[in-house]
Amino acid sequence: MKWKEQILNLHAYQPGKSIDAIKREYGLERIVKLASNENPYGCSNKVTEMLNNQTTSNALYPDGYAFDLRMSLATHFQVQPSELIFGNGSDELIQIINSALIKPGTNAVMATPTFSEYQQYTIINGGEAREILLTDKGEHNFTEMLNVIDENTAIVWICNPNNPSGVYMKEEELVAFLEKIPNDILVVIDEAYNEYVVANDYPNTLKLLKRFKNIIMLRTFSKIYGLASFRIGYGVADPSIIKTLEPIRSPFNTNTFAQKAALAALADQEFLEQCKRKNREELEKMYQFLENVGLSYYPTQGNFLLVDFQTDGDQIFQKLLQQGFIVRSGKSLGFPNSVRITIGQAEDMEALRKAIQLILTTV
Ligand SMILES: Cc1ncc(COP(=O)(O)O)c(C=O)c1O
Repeated sequence: MKWKEQILNLHAYQPGKSIDAIKREYGLERIVKLASNENPYGCSNKVTEMLNNQTTSNALYPDGYAFDLRMSLATHFQVQPSELIFGNGSDELIQIINSALIKPGTNAVMATPTFSEYQQYTIINGGEAREILLTDKGEHNFTEMLNVIDENTAIVWICNPNNPSGVYMKEEELVAFLEKIPNDILVVIDEAYNEYVVANDYPNTLKLLKRFKNIIMLRTFSKIYGLASFRIGYGVADPSIIKTLEPIRSPFNTNTFAQKAALAALADQEFLEQCKRKNREELEKMYQFLENVGLSYYPTQGNFLLVDFQTDGDQIFQKLLQQGFIVRSGKSLGFPNSVRITIGQAEDMEALRKAIQLILTTV
């Protein structure tokens, strides 16, 4: 086969063991999954009601333009319908953006550790990923990122708040950075966790889009909206950017149920507010606990927390698994001594704290 050389060293996504397999292996009745930053409260009842009452024909292709959702989201954000693009998860939009801009000889500038898909698709398309270490505080190092931008840079990736550190970049810092980036470079601002943010100085990217025409903002229905299984995300950008990206998208990339579920979910902002509030409450309890037991963490704006156990992250992962908690080892995320924990429901978090306590007292 005449495979692209650059794909031969890539690793396929490794799905974890199934919940049933873990139950059998460790003789557990119940497993709590806190590994993929999904919404522990599920999704809005409005989505469930809509799905129970929907009458769409399964034989018909979905609306490739996602008309209803597009109109609703355009109204929600006060943007033009032509400023929106939908993806099979924001994952697919990351893929589309890369295939539009990256070819051999080009490069993309990004932080590390950050969401791994940015780097993966840069490589697949034959580009160079210029990865700049996060600062000690877990922030993007904008100064160093600027230093490596050159005439071959096609994309700059900003994950805000950053996965896996959870740390955010302030509006003031972001604007100063954007002002220095040539306007023929696409700046992708991935805000998958935007709706969880409580910081007052977090950027209003929708406003920045009006000033900086080279930005695309990515958001998703997978996180606070609780629709990860439907696979639907979206991008907002100047119509000229959307128009150039649209032909790369496959015509029916978001399915009928995903579009309808997203539409119903969008209409229930009350649900979002509740999830955001509960997430914060549980985070505060975790902060308190971690401070009491002397473990350090990055203050997060997302629904996940990166905790430094100062020992092999895989081992902590394994010990928590034995007690029925699936978290994410920091090893594959670029933080070998940490684990990333999705913030779950109160009862589960209480039990998790007991499990961590047990690990710490038996080391
Ligand atoms: C920062 C970030 N961006 C994008 C995604 C992809 O989300 P989805 O494809 O489910 O929309 C994730 C998922 O974990 C993420 O953490």
